[in-house]
Amino acid sequence: MFRSSLGIFVFTASALVMACGEKTAEPAKPVAGVAEPVAHEAPKAVAEAPKAVEAIVEPAQNEIAPVVVTIELPASLAGADLAVGKRQYSKCRACHTVKEGQANRVGPNLYGIFGNAAAQTPKFRYSKALLESGKTWDMQSMDTWIANPRETVPGTSMAFVGIKDDEKRKALLAYLYTETGGEN
Ligand code: HEC
Repeated sequence: MFRSSLGIFVFTASALVMACGEKTAEPAKPVAGVAEPVAHEAPKAVAEAPKAVEAIVEPAQNEIAPVVVTIELPASLAGADLAVGKRQYSKCRACHTVKEGQANRVGPNLYGIFGNAAAQTPKFRYSKALLESGKTWDMQSMDTWIANPRETVPGTSMAFVGIKDDEKRKALLAYLYTETGGEN
């Protein structure tokens, strides 16, 4: 009597475990109201399900996390030394900001300057000379301007003597280009 009832128990349990195995695909459904042996197996299978989901999500998040924005320099600036450019930019920093949304200082914020028409930064009081210059800032016009602002736009209010050295100016332009977000 005892033996045979044990036999039935084992059979029932393994049959239910098999049924349980199929259920793991639907982790949200707890096996309620089924015979006792199932209650032991079911929570185990359900508890493991969320772990598997986490393992899938994590690598995907890691791929997205390091967003590196690469701005390619125009061919005319090939070989420019960005470290030199950064040092040259210290001549501009007192008067200008370069990042999106930063404030104007003595000079306007320069974000997105390349490809833009001159004198477009909001809330900045430009000189009449620059407003009426008709300039668009491409690499050539910017190069001339930085070499000698007052000769390029007579009457400008940018009180800056200019960078005469070709290599230093090229480096400055490369730094300015990458810092202001590249071509507009
Ligand atoms: C003493 C302050 C001062 C310094 C230093 C200075 N700037 Fe300026 N900058 C100005 C002012 C003021 C204007 C606006 C000129 C105008 O309205 O005529 C200006 C205008 C500009 C413009 C044109 C902006 C536009 O919206 O069209 C660029 C580009 C520029 N500066 C880049 C530079 C760079 C690069 C340097 C460093 C190499 C530099 N400036 C150094 C004050 C300065």
